[in-house]
Amino acid sequence: MQRELYTPASGPPQGVAPSREIYAAMGADNIYAMCADFYTELERSAIRPLFPADMPAASRKTAEFLMGIIGGPPIYAQKYGPPRMRARHLKFAIDEPARQVSGWVAL
Ligand code: HEM
Repeated sequence: MQRELYTPASGPPQGVAPSREIYAAMGADNIYAMCADFYTELERSAIRPLFPADMPAASRKTAEFLMGIIGGPPIYAQKYGPPRMRARHLKFAIDEPARQVSGWVAL
């Protein structure tokens, strides 16, 4: 059965391109650590079931995606191809409450 896709009232999020100076200011180790902390929070959140069993691997994937948009090396694109984040999220049932739990709504 076809699932209706949830789209926020404001439309598909476009986000604001983050500064490309962030990578140099933080460094790769801090970016990996920040994402590991975020995924530790996700681990105990209501949306845990959406995520794969291997959360450390998922957190590294997100860190490498972030590096690519904040002035770092394009590791994510080299490993997995073009980000296409909306397309990659379509298979997950993300509704408004799940979106709020993620805490990324301000982007
Ligand atoms: C600006 C907001 C977001 C960004 C930048 C982001 C980033 C990412 C990235 C880079 C991946 C890995 C994609 C892949 O290679 O397969 C991913 C996967 C995923 N995202 Fe998001 N995401 C965002 C919002 C959300 C929200 C709101 C949810 C759910 C409430 C969510 C749930 C997931 C799930 C379940 C996966 C698959 C697990 C994984 O491989 O990490 N994402 N996201």
